[in-house]
Formats: sequence, C-alpha cells, structure tokens
Amino acid sequence: RMRRSEVECRQDIDSFAPGLLALFESLKPSEEHKSRQKQLVDSLAKSVGKEWPSARMHLYGSCANSFGTTHSDVDVCLEMEIGTESTVDVLLKLSDVLRADNFDNVEAITGARVPIVRMTDPASGFSCDICINNLLAVANTKLLKDYAQLDQRLLQLAFLVKHWAKQRRVNETYRGTLSSYAYVLMCINFLQLREPKILPCLQAMEPTYTLTTDGTECAYFDKVDQLQDFGAENKDSIAELLWGFFQYWAYRHDYRHDVISIRMGKTLSKQEKNWTTRVGNDRHLVCIEDPFETGHDLGRVVDRQTIRILGEEFERAAAVLQYDDDPCVTLFEPYDYEN
Ligand code: CTP
Ligand code: MG
Repeated sequence: RMRRSEVECRQDIDSFAPGLLALFESLKPSEEHKSRQKQLVDSLAKSVGKEWPSARMHLYGSCANSFGTTHSDVDVCLEMEIGTESTVDVLLKLSDVLRADNFDNVEAITGARVPIVRMTDPASGFSCDICINNLLAVANTKLLKDYAQLDQRLLQLAFLVKHWAKQRRVNETYRGTLSSYAYVLMCINFLQLREPKILPCLQAMEPTYTLTTDGTECAYFDKVDQLQDFGAENKDSIAELLWGFFQYWAYRHDYRHDVISIRMGKTLSKQEKNWTTRVGNDRHLVCIEDPFETGHDLGRVVDRQTIRILGEEFERAAAVLQYDDDPCVTLFEPYDYEN
C-alpha cells in the first residue's frame, strides 16, 4: 500500500475552499425539509399523547444538534415514568399504537444497546427512531449543538466529513464502520487540537449546565455566546482543515495507544482507560470516548477488517485533497462495491 504522509498541504489548497463551501450550503436542510420534520413530530406527539398523556418528547440526534443534512432522519426520545414495566414492554406497546395510527414499517428493535421503535411517516416519507428515557442522548445532543455555535468551521467540516463518510460507505455501524455521531466527535476533537485552538473544551470549564441521569452527571459550560471569538486567531480555511482532518486520521493518530476525548480536549492513553485488550465485542482498535458515558467507546464496532477499510479511505481522502485536480468532486465519488 502506498504511503503518502506529507505534513505540508499543497500551496493552492485554499483555492478549493469556495467549492467546498458551496457543497456545504447544498447539504443544509431546506425550510421545507424542516417543516416536514416538524409535521412528523406533531403527528407523533398526538399518537403518543393518547396513550401516555404525561410523556415528554425530546428531539435528539441530527434533527436537534444542528449537524442534520438533507439526508438526516428524525430521532425522538420519550421521557416518561414507566413503573414496573420494562422499556421493551413500553416499546412493544408503542409499536401497536403507531401501527394503529397508520405509521408505516413500524418495527421494535429491542436487541440493540439502545432499544428503539423505528418507523416511517407516510406524510413526509422520513424515517424516525424513537427511544425511551435515553436522556444521555438528549444531553449529548445539546453539547454538540453548543459546540456548533462556537465556530462555523465545525459545522462546515462535520457536514463535509459526514457526506464523505456516507458516499464512501464508511458510515455504517452494522458493517463495522463509524456512526455520524462518532465523526462529529472526531471533528470537535480535531479542532480542539489545532494550533491555535479553534474550539475550547467546554467540559473542562466551570459548569453552567448540569443534568444527572442514570447516575451519570453531564456538566459543562454552556454560555457559548461568551466564547464567540475563541477560534478567531486561527485563520485556517475549510479546505486546509478538511485536508488536516484526513491527514490526522490517515497518518498522525496513534491508533495503538491513544483515545480521542472531547471531554478532556485532547487524547488520552488506552492504558489509563483500561481499553488495552478486547473485552467481549469491544475491540478498542479505534478509540473514541463518549463525552458523558465515558466507559463507552464509539469505535467499539470497528474490527480488524474495517479498520483497514477506514485507513484506506482516510489515506485516499488525504491524497485526493493533496493531488487531485478536482478534489471537491473526486473526494465524494460514491464508493462502488463492484469495481
Ligand atoms: N448516539 C449516542 N451514542 C451512540 C450513537 C448515537 O448517544 N453510540 C446518539 C447521539 O445523541 C446522536 C444520536 O444518537 O446524536 C443519533 O446518532 P446518529 O444517527 O449517529 O447521528 P445523527 O447526528 O442523527 O446523524 P445522521 O444525520 O446520519 O442521522
Ligand atoms: Mg440520526
């Protein structure tokens, strides 16, 4: 396998910024898309309210963390008292309610780490995942949203990386590659490590927001309007950052020893997290610490084969941005299993 590990990017890298920004703009969800999402949420609230009048509905994931693109689904968390019933019982009852109210493809996925009901809204065609009392996801959604307000380059970088990952088919956790959520954490950590720093570490500052759920405390500084100039000293263009991101994950990240942590704003060692050996299905080949559920490694799904695929895609992306005549197109060419 060819190794290209330049530490300097091409001289004309900034000339690709306008093309990348145009692509970013085209990936933003339209007003129509947002209003259809809102309709879905309203009709779901009606259904749920009949059976569980005191349930509270929270949006989480990309429809609420500002990292949603035109392709994003809707993630909903129901907060409710469930008494002696199990979460799975409630989800099965919810499936019946939704079927009776004519939602399509209603399916309870109860074996997953976070059990959900998945369905399609016939009015909008959107797919929707519903979980129960998963307030950690609600908290991490707010954390991502607050980070996104600090420097516009985070949103731009994350949209481009998510789009690349979907096109190149390395955004499929069931196949052993990474979730969108993991890619956003990788982008945040990357910008926390730039010199000068583009993002601060909100969890290392005096907390102004605290939510405790399931014995986990989620606390951080959320007055982001007070940090508006934080990254201003760094003038890196989106093109240079995108190249730097792929360069980092292709050649610089120490997969053998390091864990990325937006909670600490740096990398930690696998040793100190006790993530050195495989435990059950957690292989810890790529280590991405969840900001609140710190025992959770978002890279746990990656195995020996998919870490190689990821590595090849990171290298390809870095090389395209370094050498290609038309990187804004070539970078995002769909991966073709046939060839
Ligand atoms: N989540 C989590 N832990 C994971 C995966 C996801 O807590 N291991 C939560 C996060 O709150 C995340 C949400 O579930 O924001 C949705 O995850 P995902 O579908 O990966 O990300 P989205 O941001 O919704 O991306 P997409 O636009 O691809 O739907
Ligand atoms: Mg989603």
